[in-house]
Amino acid sequence: MGDIINSDGRKIPEHVAIILDGNGRWAKKRFLPRNAGHVQGAANIEKVCTIARDMGIKYVTVYAFSTENWKRPSAEVEAIMKLLRQYLKDCRKKCKKNNMKVRVIGDISVLDEDFQNTIKDLVDYSKEHTGLNFTVALNYGSRDEIRRAFKEIMKEHDEGKISLDDIDEKLISDHLDTRELPDPDLVIRTSGEQRMSNYMMWQIAYSEFYFTDTLWPDFSKKDLEAAVDFYNKVDRRFGGIKS
Ligand code: IPE
Ligand code: IPE
Ligand code: MG
Repeated sequence: MGDIINSDGRKIPEHVAIILDGNGRWAKKRFLPRNAGHVQGAANIEKVCTIARDMGIKYVTVYAFSTENWKRPSAEVEAIMKLLRQYLKDCRKKCKKNNMKVRVIGDISVLDEDFQNTIKDLVDYSKEHTGLNFTVALNYGSRDEIRRAFKEIMKEHDEGKISLDDIDEKLISDHLDTRELPDPDLVIRTSGEQRMSNYMMWQIAYSEFYFTDTLWPDFSKKDLEAAVDFYNKVDRRFGGIKS
């Protein structure tokens, strides 16, 4: 919604949400174990964030692990968790350098205490930063997020803090994990799949969607520019009429 016009007249989406998919296929193509794809994919997140920031994008939210990804073989789940833990540990140094503000959405209460503390420390450490807003969706599922929001709203109602008439769209948005983020303007999914896989279902009501066959570890500046070019061509009407 808060598009920025850059120096060459390009409209830059304020919030880009990315479903980074295709790590496994990237590895398979190279006869490597799936985890090699996850390692390469994790390394690419930082690169893409830097490119996004340089383009003037203010918010980048990446889907790193869904509530459904626990269904994968335990060795793969463990490898991804280990990678994410390390990534978020290393993030502290990077976010100081880049002035990046980090948030995590999803239910982190199921993670071990040490991991939860790494996340909480990082979020707290970067909370005054004014650069790119980088958000990681970890053990995130839209339906689970809405379920948790429902419980919280019901609790506040039962405690007499809110009445039924207080329940409007803003109150619901304010109970979601994304309460501090604007809705995504542009959603990008890599690897050719065209589905949302339980990603920000409430928040994407008026987002634009860009799908590319590029596998996430290969996603580059050229791909991000193509996504922004696509975004420039769409006429966002939000239910109104063409202006
Ligand atoms: C995305 O890559 C990363 C996660 C979902 C954690 P995938 O692991 O889903 O890669 P493909 O879809 O099997 O190629
Ligand atoms: C979506 O990718 C979730 C993440 C990127 C974390 P998946 O690879 O898990 O999605 P499906 O199974 O193809 O829908
Ligand atoms: Mg996948």
